[in-house]
Amino acid sequence: MNRPPPDVVAVERSAPGKIILCGEHSVVYGYPAIAVPVSDLRARARVEPAPPGSGLQIEAPDLHQSLHLRLAAEDNPLAHTARLVLAHLGHAEPDAVLTVESDLPIASGMGSGAAITAAAARALAAALGEELLTETVSQITYEVEKIHHGTPSGIDNTVIAWERPVYFAKGRCPETFRIAAPFDVLIAHSGITSSTRGAVDEVRHRWHATPAYYEMIFTCIGAIAHAARAAVEQGALQALGTLLNENHELLAKMGVSICKLDGLVYAARSRGALGAKLTGAGQGGNVIALVNEPALPAVRQALNEAGAIHVWHTRVGT
Ligand code: MEV
Repeated sequence: MNRPPPDVVAVERSAPGKIILCGEHSVVYGYPAIAVPVSDLRARARVEPAPPGSGLQIEAPDLHQSLHLRLAAEDNPLAHTARLVLAHLGHAEPDAVLTVESDLPIASGMGSGAAITAAAARALAAALGEELLTETVSQITYEVEKIHHGTPSGIDNTVIAWERPVYFAKGRCPETFRIAAPFDVLIAHSGITSSTRGAVDEVRHRWHATPAYYEMIFTCIGAIAHAARAAVEQGALQALGTLLNENHELLAKMGVSICKLDGLVYAARSRGALGAKLTGAGQGGNVIALVNEPALPAVRQALNEAGAIHVWHTRVGT
């Protein structure tokens, strides 16, 4: 039986976005990938007490959603998050308002959905006087990612819940790793949103049609992710840039790049980026460019000229 909810206290919690440095898509097939949190772009969740008997109201202005937990569909990600948290804690529905907001672009490969889930799960539990273990936040986020993506590899929930660089291979314990020297990354939004589920499904169809070809690509990308981890651990940024470039060419062969993404990648490289690639599921979303600090303004300008609708700068490893 559920415990009656304790008094709700007003709290706010947040979770970062993420970028995959190497290994998207092939990670779904068990090959390694590396990802880092983007701590300066975050999702935030706030919980405030509400009058007795009002139940849990969920507000997500960025997603144009306003819903009541009792009336929300089974597959609504925010409602599913709340139900998983309450079931985990063994609490009945509290009288509260949960509001989520995010700096992260939606459907663009930066883990917006996972960050919102992680922040909401933490805030709801904290408002009821409980702090969730990071492992629990990751697990709840993974469950909700299934609604968004069908068959998530588990990398997004892991990097977002732990907020640390991760070397991830499905079915193995995720490893965190050391960043020898902080490095600068520009993240450029193509202005095109894309569905991770759609891109993952398309790759799966092509893999079924020509498995040997796709396994070869996945194997190469796995080796790139492995080498990229070593490059990050050694501060070998030139080598990391080359690996990002090679990863992009293989993602293009996989069929998940589009002209706009290729244009952004080539523009960044031509003005001095050490390397550039799409990040996330592709078919839209963002590209990342690894840039030495002095070249940041020129590469940013190149990305804007190539049609990026927004360019963010993040320093990885600070
Ligand atoms: C999405 O951020 C990355 C993909 O590899 C899907 C996944 O890992 O679940 C495309």
